[in-house]
Amino acid sequence: MTAIAWGRALERLWETMYVMFAVLSPRVALSYVDGRSCRFVAMWLLACCFLVACMVVLGGYTRLSGSGLSMPSWQPIMGILPPLSADDWLAHYRAYQATPEYRLMMSDLASFKVIFWIEYSHRLLGRVLGLVFFLPLLFFAWQRYVTREWLVLFSVLFILGALQGLMGWLMVYSGLVDEPQVSPYRLAAHLFLAFLLYGLLFSAMLRWMFPHGIQGEPTPSYPPHPYYTRDTLLTHIYVAFVLFAVTVIFGALVAGNHAGLIYNTYPLMDGSLLPPLDDGRGAWYQQMVTVPGPIQWVHRLLSFLTVLVLFALVYRIEKNRSTPPVIVWSARSLFLVLISQFSLGIATLLYGVPTLLALSHQFGALLLLSMMVWLMFAIKDYQHSFLASLPPPIDNPAQESSSTGRF
Ligand code: HEM
Repeated sequence: MTAIAWGRALERLWETMYVMFAVLSPRVALSYVDGRSCRFVAMWLLACCFLVACMVVLGGYTRLSGSGLSMPSWQPIMGILPPLSADDWLAHYRAYQATPEYRLMMSDLASFKVIFWIEYSHRLLGRVLGLVFFLPLLFFAWQRYVTREWLVLFSVLFILGALQGLMGWLMVYSGLVDEPQVSPYRLAAHLFLAFLLYGLLFSAMLRWMFPHGIQGEPTPSYPPHPYYTRDTLLTHIYVAFVLFAVTVIFGALVAGNHAGLIYNTYPLMDGSLLPPLDDGRGAWYQQMVTVPGPIQWVHRLLSFLTVLVLFALVYRIEKNRSTPPVIVWSARSLFLVLISQFSLGIATLLYGVPTLLALSHQFGALLLLSMMVWLMFAIKDYQHSFLASLPPPIDNPAQESSSTGRF
């Protein structure tokens, strides 16, 4: 395909994305970006979000297929080339034979090649992501598409991405020393950094995609609710973000400790709400981060709290009849994703962590994060572009509900 055809295909992709978002609210149409530069930056960030999501899923598959320890060295530049000859393969296989995992598994060359390719793809995609982020960034900086503040933010994101690569290697290294088992804490740090990167990229992408806000112009037909302020809703969603983050960290600890392979019942664990503590392994609060049963219990508890807090937020938004449809529909979509994610978690546990369910559960967490960021963006934008320009709150609830027309 020529460069022009590629350009057209990308433009069409953008229009499709745009229509998808416009479905959420016709007023999205008002926020259409006039300058091409904004569109290019938004598409670039969208592509990076997509690649980070692929990295997370491929990383999960690498772990679940037991491939993560097949490359016992890290060469950021030279490692880009896979083994090309029989001698190369033999050299890689010899290096693998020196690892604790080989001493346990004794894989032959053919099986080694399979796990090697999976780990290699994960690392290669990481390099591709680095290039897809860095090269357009240079171009945007050169063309002055982005302001200095944005440039600083993007540079921080780039450094975070490089640190993520380093964290990945530190994680792998922990499984090459004594036991063929990576440190669950490093795994949690690696996954958490990925979620952080994705969340920041996604919120930056929304800013560039809707530089005039999601809602477009102020609409006087939606008066503000007296109990519905920017700060209370934002505080609510920030609390949900914190809970979500800790749930993700404990999800990674569950995965890193293979804690999904025990207590495969819900809501009870071996007929009880609490798992038994292990006598010789420290105080109960230490066991919450070191022993598989209690770790799984904390993940259950935190995910339940996340659901409760997000449910309360959705309820508040639903209850307020003056909420603009774009926020209501965002909250409803978030609710659907939340319930699916919770159910997927339970299914993953009940079926003893089959690969497809575990990967869907991991991807579901990213989807949930996207919906939360989107809702936060919509709430911020709502207050910003609507409330400031509207008359003071209406005291009479009857008058208020009749003026909105949402029910
Ligand atoms: C808000 C809800 C939830 C969120 C955001 C969430 C998030 C996560 C994340 C990010 C992981 C790590 C995935 C990985 O590293 O591969 C994970 C793992 C896991 N979660 Fe959840 N989770 C939620 C609810 C639940 C529930 C309700 C259960 C079951 C009771 C559950 C069971 C599991 C299990 C068994 C794993 C380990 C899977 C593996 O070994 O690959 N999760 N969760």
